[in-house]
Amino acid sequence: MMAATESLMFLVVTILSLSGLIHSFKPLFSFSGNSMTHRVITQRAVLRKTAEVCRDIAASEGRDFRLSIDDSLSADKVQRACSTIGTSTSVLSTVMFHTSIANMYFSNAIVDVVFALSERHHFDDETFEGGRDVITSGVSAVKASVKLDNFVAGRWTLGRLCHTLQDFYSHSNWVELGKTAPYSSLIRPDEPLVNLAGPNTPTCRNCIGGNCADNLLPDLLQQGLLTSGYFNIFSSAKPEGKCSHGGFLDWTSRRDPVGGINKDDLGSSHGSLHHKAADLAVNATMELLEDIRVSVGDKNFLRLMGLSQSSVLCFVIDTTGSMSDDIAEAKRVSFDIIDRKRGTQEEPSAYILVPFNDPGFGPLILTTDADVFKDNINKLTASGGGDIPELCLSGLQLALTAAPPSSEIFVFTDAPAKDAHLKSTITALIESRKTVVTFMLTDVLAGRRRRRNFQGGYSSRRISQSDTQLYRDLARASGGQAIEVTKSDLSLVTSIIEDSSANAVVTVFQVVRNPGKPDNFTFTVDGSLRNMTAYITGASSLTFTLTSSTGVSQSSSQSSGPLASFTTAGNLRRLSWNTDNQTGSWEISVDSNNPYSVKVTGQSSVNFIFNLVEAHKGAHGDFSLKEGRALSGGNASLLVSVTGSDTVKVTEVTLFDTSGSTEVNGTLQSVGSGNFLVTFSAVPAGDFMVCLRGEDSSSTSRSTPSIFQRQASTLIKTSSISLTAQVNNTSIEPGSTISIPFTVATAINGVVNDTATGTFTVRANNDRSYTSTSPNSVTVAQGSGGKANGTVTLTVPANVTSGTDVTLTIEAENAAATDINYAVIRMSVAAKVSDVTRPVCREVSTSRNCPSSSSLCASSQWKFIANLTDGINGTGIDSVAIRQGNGTLNTSTVAGAGGENITVATYIASCCSQNVELSAVDKVGNVGTCVGQARALTTAVPVTTAAPVTTAAPVTAAAVNTTSSGGHTVSTSHCLLIAVVVSLLWK
Ligand SMILES: *[C@@H]1O[C@H](CO)[C@@H](O)[C@H](O)[C@H]1NC(C)=O
Ligand SMILES: *[C@@H]1O[C@H](CO)[C@@H](O)[C@H](O)[C@H]1NC(C)=O
Repeated sequence: MMAATESLMFLVVTILSLSGLIHSFKPLFSFSGNSMTHRVITQRAVLRKTAEVCRDIAASEGRDFRLSIDDSLSADKVQRACSTIGTSTSVLSTVMFHTSIANMYFSNAIVDVVFALSERHHFDDETFEGGRDVITSGVSAVKASVKLDNFVAGRWTLGRLCHTLQDFYSHSNWVELGKTAPYSSLIRPDEPLVNLAGPNTPTCRNCIGGNCADNLLPDLLQQGLLTSGYFNIFSSAKPEGKCSHGGFLDWTSRRDPVGGINKDDLGSSHGSLHHKAADLAVNATMELLEDIRVSVGDKNFLRLMGLSQSSVLCFVIDTTGSMSDDIAEAKRVSFDIIDRKRGTQEEPSAYILVPFNDPGFGPLILTTDADVFKDNINKLTASGGGDIPELCLSGLQLALTAAPPSSEIFVFTDAPAKDAHLKSTITALIESRKTVVTFMLTDVLAGRRRRRNFQGGYSSRRISQSDTQLYRDLARASGGQAIEVTKSDLSLVTSIIEDSSANAVVTVFQVVRNPGKPDNFTFTVDGSLRNMTAYITGASSLTFTLTSSTGVSQSSSQSSGPLASFTTAGNLRRLSWNTDNQTGSWEISVDSNNPYSVKVTGQSSVNFIFNLVEAHKGAHGDFSLKEGRALSGGNASLLVSVTGSDTVKVTEVTLFDTSGSTEVNGTLQSVGSGNFLVTFSAVPAGDFMVCLRGEDSSSTSRSTPSIFQRQASTLIKTSSISLTAQVNNTSIEPGSTISIPFTVATAINGVVNDTATGTFTVRANNDRSYTSTSPNSVTVAQGSGGKANGTVTLTVPANVTSGTDVTLTIEAENAAATDINYAVIRMSVAAKVSDVTRPVCREVSTSRNCPSSSSLCASSQWKFIANLTDGINGTGIDSVAIRQGNGTLNTSTVAGAGGENITVATYIASCCSQNVELSAVDKVGNVGTCVGQARALTTAVPVTTAAPVTTAAPVTAAAVNTTSSGGHTVSTSHCLLIAVVVSLLWK
C-alpha cells in the first residue's frame, strides 16, 4: 500500500518536473511562426458564437446588428456590437468578458499540465470513446452549473473540455480523411462512433526521412477509417503498425512505423495541415457552444460567456442583534441601486447575499433576479448574538468563491471576526479571484459595541485595534477599503457602493501607507476618464492637498473649491472632481503620521486584467495559470490583456512595493490582440501593486496619443514557499471522496532548495464545509530533496446537487508564521448522467395551404404539429422553444403508447414566415431539434416528407388522443390535403 502511494507520488513529482510535456496545440502562446494555440482557437470560437447569438437576438428584436462575424473579432468589438445602447463612444467595461474568456483558455491550457499523460484527454492512442466521454460528461456538468447560475464553475469546466475536443482535430486523421466539417458525434453521446480503425488494423507506415506527408496507409484512407497517434514519453511500446503522435517527446514515434501524424503546430509531423486542423477545431468548438446555447437559452449562454458589463452586487451582512440599522441601510442602498438601474446597462448582472452571525453563516443567495434578492434582504432580521465575535470570514469565504472574478464585495459588521484563523484563506481567495473587499465597520471608531445580552439589555464590548486591523489588512490586500463610521453616519458612506456599481469603474491610482508618513502622490489623468473620484481613509487629523495638472490646488479645508467637492464621514473622505477635462499629471499630497489609504478612480472603457502565469521548462516552453504566489527572488510572469480599445499600446508594466521603496519593471512581449506577456526578473519578497501605462491613439481629436495609467486592485505577493497540488479529476460525484496530493518546499531565488529542511503548518479549507482531511503539518526531512508531501481529501455529501462548485484552498505556512503560500483548487460536483439521449421529435402534421404568391402571405397561416418525447427512460422534457420562426407555440402533454410522456407542440405562423425550428431540452440539458418548413407549390411536385436522419431510436408513433391535446384538434386528414412540401430535418 505504502509502495503504491509512493510510486504515485513519484509519478506526480515526475510529471511536475517533466514540464514541457505539451503535445497538443500549444496551450497559450506561439512565439515562433503563426501556429494557432488553444487560446486562440477558444477565443475565436467564443467570439464568433457570442456574436452570432447577439446577431440573432438583435434580429428577433428588429434591431440592427452591424458586425461581420469573422476571425478579426475582438472581445471589445463583440461586446460593443452586442450592447443595446453602446455606441462607439459610450463608456463600457469589457473586463468581465475578457476575464471570462481568459478563464476559459486558462482552464483549457491547464489540461496539458494536469492531464499531461491521460490519453483520453487528448484523443491519443485511439481512445475515441474515452475522449468523447470527457467531452460529453463535461458538457453535462456545464449545463448543470448554468442551471444553478454557477457561471464561474461552468466556464472553468467548459474551457477544459474544449481542450479535448480541439485536440481531436490535431491528433486524429480526421483532417487527412478529407473532412471539412466537425465530427458531430463527439458531442453526441447517443450516436455510435463509427469507422474506427480496429485494434489490429495497421494505420501507418514509416515516414521517409523526416517527411511524414504520406505515412498514413492508403487502405485506411480509402476505407475512411479513423485513427489517432500513439504517444508515450516513457516507452516506445505501441501496437503493431499503429501511427504515433510524433515529435521528440514521443518515444513511440521512434519505432516502426516511425514518425507521427499530429498537426499541433506548423513544424509538426503533419504541420502542413495545422491550419486546417485548427480551423476545424474552431468550428467544432462553435458547434459545442451552440449545443450549450440551445440547452441553456440565449440569455444564460451570454452570461456563461461573461458578456456582461455590469458588476454583481454582493453583500455579506452581520445579522446579530445590534445590526438592525446597518441592515436597514444595506437594504436602502441596494434597493435604490436596483430600482434606479433596472432595465439599464448598469443593472447588476447578479446579486449575492450572505448573512452571518454566531454560530451560523449563510446560506448564500446567488441570483440574477433582483426581486429574489430583495425578498431575501427583506427577510434579514437582526437577532441573537452575545458578546461573542461573529463568523464574518466564513460568510466572506462563501461570497468570494461565488462572485465572478474582479467583483467587489461589501461586508457590513460591527464586531470582530471569530474566525480570524481564516485570514490567510481569505487572502488567498482574494488574490486568486482578484476580488475587492470593502468593509463597512460601524461603531468601531468609538471602540464600543452595544450588544443585546440574554437579559435583553445591552452590554458593551471594546473592539481592539487588532480586530479592526484584520479587516484593514484584508481590504488592503484586495484594493478595497475599511470604512469606519458611526451607525448614524453609515448612510453618508454608502455612496461608495453606488459609485462602485456604476459602469466601467477603473482604478487610476491606489496606495496604502502603514505606518503613515507624509507623502506626495502623482498620477496621470487621461482623456477617457469620466467622473473622477478619490477616496482617502485615515485618522481625523489627516490633511491633504489636491493639485491639478495646470497647477491649481485645493486643500482639505475647502470642501468645495476649484477642483473637486469633498465629503467626510467617519474615516472616509470622498473627493468628486468638478470636471473631466483636465488631463495630465495630478498630485495628492497627504499629511498624516497615522495609517492612511488613497484611491483614485474614474469611469473608462480602458482597463486591463492580469493573471500570474508560470513557465514550463523544456524545449516546448509554454505557460499555464499559476494559482498561488510567485516565488520570491525568482521570475514572475503576467499575462496582461488591455480592455476597452483595440488601439492602445502598452508601454510599461511595473510592480511597486507597497511601501514605495522598490520598483520592478517588466519586459513586455506582445502575444497578439492586446495581450502581453510581461516578465519580471528577481522579484523580491513583498507585496506589490501592478501598474500599467500605455498610449491610446484612438482619440482622433489629439495629434499625440493620450497617455494613460491604470492600477490593479489586487496586490501580488511573493513567497519563498513552493506549494504545488495536483488534482486528477476536477469533477466529483456526489457521495465520493477525492484525494489531492501536494508538495511543499522552500525556495531560494525562485528555485527549490533541495537541501533545506523544516516543518510547515498545513491548512485546508473548503467553502462548502464539506468533510475534508489534511495533515496539520508536513516536515521536509534531511535527504528528501527539500520536499515534503501530503494529501488532502475532500468528501462531497451524497445529496449535493449537480452543478454545485466547491473551492478548496490548501495553505502551507513556515514555522515562524511569517510566510505563506497556497493552492486554490476548484471542482464541480457532477452526478453521472445516465440520460444521454436527446429528446426526439416527430412531425404529426402540417396544415394549411400557403399561397404561392408571397404578396398574399399575410392573410394566411400554417400550422405545424410535432410530438416530442424524451422516451420512457429519459429524464423528461423540460422545455420546448422556438429556435426559428415568429409564430406562436402551444404545448400540451399526453401519455404515449409505451407510457412515456409526449409533449405535443403546436406551432401556428403566418405564411410570411415559412420555417420553424423547435428545440426540446430534457432535464439534464440534452437538446433535440426539429425543423418544419412550409413551401408553396408551383407545379405538381409530389408531397414528400424527408426521412428523419437520426441514429437515435425513433419515437414509437403514439396515438395522440385528439380530444385531450389541449384543445388543438388534430385531424390527420390535414396531412393528406396539404399542398405544401414539409420537410422535417433532424439535426
Ligand atoms: C468553419 O465554418 C465557417 C462558417 O460556418 C466556414 O466558412 C469555414 O469554411 C469552416 N471551416 C472549416 C475548416 O471547415
Ligand atoms: C511634497 O511636495 C511639496 C511641494 O512640492 C514639498 O514641499 C514636500 O517636501 C513634498 N513632500 C514629500 C514627503 O515629498
